[in-house]
Amino acid sequence: MNFEGRIALVTGASQGIGRASALALAEAGADAALCSRNLERLENVAKTIEAMGKKALALRMDVSSLESVNAAVAKVLEWGGKIDILVNNAGVTKDNLVMRMKPEDWEAVLKTNLDGAFYCIRAVLPGMVRQRRGRIINVASVVAETGNPGQANYVASKAGLIGLTKSVAAEVASRNITVNAVAPGFIATAMTERLSEGVKEKILGLIPLGRMGTDREVALGVRFLASEEAGYITGHVLNINGGMYMA
Ligand code: NAI
Repeated sequence: MNFEGRIALVTGASQGIGRASALALAEAGADAALCSRNLERLENVAKTIEAMGKKALALRMDVSSLESVNAAVAKVLEWGGKIDILVNNAGVTKDNLVMRMKPEDWEAVLKTNLDGAFYCIRAVLPGMVRQRRGRIINVASVVAETGNPGQANYVASKAGLIGLTKSVAAEVASRNITVNAVAPGFIATAMTERLSEGVKEKILGLIPLGRMGTDREVALGVRFLASEEAGYITGHVLNINGGMYMA
């Protein structure tokens, strides 16, 4: 896989799956625009990428704000002239049983995980359509396919992301742009670190491969879907879940 000359925009790139995806793309030759709310951590990721001999831009962007997304995408275009790959990775959880869920926690999760992806897609598509080439990869979740008690907001956002993936894939296929999702299972990152040992044990019992996945394992799936080699794959959801759910 060769990403030389390609420019990737990765949201939520300061840590976890986003950081690993940006590094995996850069390792294979891509230049990377890194976005998230925490500039300091992003700059560390940018330094790592520059040490690989690739260009990197660290930008503050809050995906839940249309203005922030539009402003950041404009800066990336100024910096790199184009965007070939968009990885919609930024995501948050605010778990509770639905009867106890505060409407503001429902809205905040939908706003970041689903509206944010829509804003980013909407901002990068005109350029991709003009250049007749593009790859969009949305980071969904296994729970979008299974449901999960205590995560109605998160699951709704990720199931929405899969619907968004398939619809946009159909809309832009004729422009040589592919739109796919990855659905990670139980991955060792800050997001799962905060779960109690009891919950972790229970989830591990549901995974045929018997272990948590790594951010790198998800990133390699993202990179494959971003590659030229995946050119005939669109509207697909790639499960990276250790067998936790077999579609
Ligand atoms: P993480 O919490 O380590 O990283 C999340 C990233 O999103 C951070 O860089 C954070 O700054 C960024 N972010 C959050 N809100 C943002 C906003 N409004 N604007 C810009 N950036 C924002 O979590 P992790 O695990 O790396 O998650 C990455 C993605 O993978 C998320 O979409 C998550 O839902 C998804 N995922 C994670 C799984 C896991 O087991 N860790 C499983 C399935 C999906």
